[in-house]
Parts: sequence; C-alpha cells; structure tokens
Amino acid sequence: MATNEVTLSTYKFYMNGEWKESQSGQTIDIMSPYLYETIGKVQAITKEEVDDAIWSAHDAQKEWAKTSLQQRASYLNKWADELVSRQEEIADTIMREVGKSYKDANNEVLRTADFIRYTIEEALHMHGESMRGDSFPGGSKSKVAIVERIPIGVVLAISPFNYPVNLAAAKIAPALMAGNAVIFKPATQGAISGTKMIEALDEAGLPKGLVALVTGKGSVIGDYLVEHKGMNMISFTGGTNTGVQLAKKATMIPLVLELGGKDPGIVCEDADLKEAAKQIVSGAFSYSGQRCTAIKRVLVHEKVADELVGLVKEEVEKLTVGSPEEGSMIVPLIDNRSADFIQILIADALGKGAEVVIGNKREHNLIYPTLLDHVTEDMRVAWEEPFGPVLPIIRVSSEDEAVQIANASEYGLQASIFTKDVNRAFRISGKLEVGSVQINGRTERGPDHFPFIGIKGSGMGVQGIRKSIESMTREKVTVLNLAE
Ligand code: G3P
Repeated sequence: MATNEVTLSTYKFYMNGEWKESQSGQTIDIMSPYLYETIGKVQAITKEEVDDAIWSAHDAQKEWAKTSLQQRASYLNKWADELVSRQEEIADTIMREVGKSYKDANNEVLRTADFIRYTIEEALHMHGESMRGDSFPGGSKSKVAIVERIPIGVVLAISPFNYPVNLAAAKIAPALMAGNAVIFKPATQGAISGTKMIEALDEAGLPKGLVALVTGKGSVIGDYLVEHKGMNMISFTGGTNTGVQLAKKATMIPLVLELGGKDPGIVCEDADLKEAAKQIVSGAFSYSGQRCTAIKRVLVHEKVADELVGLVKEEVEKLTVGSPEEGSMIVPLIDNRSADFIQILIADALGKGAEVVIGNKREHNLIYPTLLDHVTEDMRVAWEEPFGPVLPIIRVSSEDEAVQIANASEYGLQASIFTKDVNRAFRISGKLEVGSVQINGRTERGPDHFPFIGIKGSGMGVQGIRKSIESMTREKVTVLNLAE
C-alpha cells in the first residue's frame, strides 16, 4: 500500500503494473467538499503517458484473453477480498473525498465486493449457443454454428464522483472477466477513492498492464482518451452533456452510457400515501440527491396532493443534515457550483409561483432538503436535473396527465408508481418511456444484477452484471460444415 505514496497525500497513477509520477510534473488538488481543505493530489498525466498505458494494455490483453475463466476468477476473488480487508480505509477515503456518509461509503465498498463476486459467478456460468442449419428453409443439417462471446479488447471505463468505487468496479470487473484490458479514468473528484480501489487490485497480483489508472485534466486527456484509436469500447457514467459529447467523438466503437435522469414518482389517488412518502423521501434525498436514480419530481393526483405533501414534509423533517462524519443524509454538495445551480432552479420556481414547503436554506455548499409545491411545467425545476436535495411537487388531474408530463422529459431512466391497484400500475408502466419502472418503491439501480437501462437523454446500452459482461464482449460465429 505504501507503494503509492509519494508524500503523505500525493498519489501516483498506475500503468503497466507500476505506480508512477507523471512526466508533466503537474498534479491536481482534490478538495474535500465538507472539510474544505485539500486532502490529496493526483497526477495530471500527459497524452504520451496515455498512449503508453493503452498500448501496454493491448499487449497485456492478448495474454489475458488466453487465460481460463477460473484463472481470471481467482484474481478477481482476491481483489474482492482485498477490498473488504481495506474496507475502513477505503470508506474513509470515499467519505472525505466525495462527502458521502461513512455508513453509505462503507456499504459502497461491501456492495462492490459483492458485485465483483457476483460478476465472477455470472461469467463462469455464461455459455454460448449452437445453431442448426436446417432450421432455416433450405438450410442443411450439415451446418452447425457455434456462437461464442469473445473479448472486445481494451475498454475505457469512466466513472463519476458519486460512486467512485462501486461504479468503477461495475465496469472493471465485467471487462476483466470477459477477457479485456481496462483503461480506468475516474472522475477527478473521486480519483483518490479510485486509486485506493486499484491499489487493492494491484495487491491481488493482476498481470502487468491489464488495468491502467489514468488521472488528469479533462482538457488534456479527456477527448484524447475517447478518440484514441487504441480504444475498443467505452463505458461511461456521468452527466448527459458530457455523454452526448463523448458519443459524438467516439466513432465506430460500442458505447454504454449511463447518464442523468429526472425520475418521476407518480402518486395515484389510491396509493398508500404514508409508504409512498417514505419511499419518495428516501429516493429523493439519499446522499443529498446526488444519484442519477434519485426521484427528481413528484407527480401527484390533486385529490391526494395536500395529504401527500404533509406526509412528505414530515419525512423531510426527520432527515439529518450536516457532516458525513456524523452520518448525515443531507451533506454538503460536491462543490459550490452545484449548490449555485440548485439555488438558480429554486429561485426560478419561486419567481413563477411555486411555494416552499420546507427548506430553501443554504450554508456554503450545503443545501437543506427543499420541498417545492405547486410546481408547474413552465418552471425549470420541473425538467432540469438538480443533482441535489430539492424535490418539486407537480399536481396532476389524471393518470394521463401524469404520464404526459413524465414522458415529456428529455430523460428516461426510471419512474416510480405508487398505487394499490396492480392493473393501474401495469397500465401506467406500459406507457412510460423509461428504462425501468418501480411499482410501490423508490427508483434505484440495485440489486446490481438487474438490468439497468437509460433511454433518451439517460443513456444507451444496458448494464447490470450479465448485461455488462455481454456489452464488453462481441459474438463470434464458427460454422462447422460437416460431411453428409
Ligand atoms: O447515480 C448513479 C446510479 O448508478 C445510482 O445508483 O444505487 O444509487 O440507485 P443507486
């Protein structure tokens, strides 16, 4: 572990099995969102170093592709064990770097180890198929196709700040089990947590070059990585704008993009309002709403709106606000810019007639949980993703109106429907343009083996363990032409 410490808090990047300082001589300060001090520095690497990392990865991948699934599994199992044995250290780093409560950070580490182990099992149990030629008209019985999944090559894994370990491993583990090499580019805020995770992988003895950790300035290496001819697939989680730009730049390679959302919680007049309020508040405000799957608007039938708003307010009043070190659910946002943006959305809504039920208070980058009632379609907060603790309530007069407003969004990640009528739930679900619908539960990604899908501005491709492995392999057909 000490291998990666230049000084107390300057971290090296990782390529070809070595921890290195960049030739650029430059580092990037990582500022804690709640300690308001620099907690470490990461390397600002050069384009030449990116080239070296990618071509070393190609060399390593060729050998890795020859290894058996059991061999790959043994490295990844060690990685999972190593993460668990460093659980406290990594959780503490996540907490300090991205301001997530220690409990949630700790859960993230354990969830990651579980994710890796499930990925191993899934990969071990995935098989190709064979097809008979004579099932097609005029086809011959003597033709048999063997359809296998083979590695895709070098995968670029770009992870966001909000799950700096889990969402990184959710790309790296399937890529490795599928026989690929990985260039891992963490969000800069989150890069120290990502570094700790890669230290654990290094400790597991992974062959040299197979995984590189590249950190640096987006302006220097961002587009360079995405447009690099050595890249065979990109898996990106982050903002929609960045994802759209990435998709324009990356040509002719498979992409999986997990982007933003504006998930609605649709509350019907027959819903269990108390339970709906609990789910909505947990869905909207966990980690201060800094989740792509957070509930980001409530569409409630006007007949039950007053009662629901009262119940949601009661739940919001129970939320703890403050430092992640105290286990608060509402914590300072990742940076001041995020808090500024949320204030703009709130001000716009208030200027157009929305009412504050609770909240609308700010201390530095800490925004208190804010509930806005009587939000209407002309307000920005009805459509834009705050990525923070503000929840708009939009009152609707019918199921159709709820569906219309839900679908008018540029996003299509998830939606929740709260109703006691299963027929109604399926009727509404069938009309919603989203990747997943939760019936009587909050929007969320897990359990992590479920398919995770974003449509429209929320992304492309499918994640979820099996789907991630599939997305990081390509099919190859070998046809046996047997003698008659
Ligand atoms: O924002 C990232 C997204 O993957 C959320 O995951 O588990 O909080 O629903 P989760």
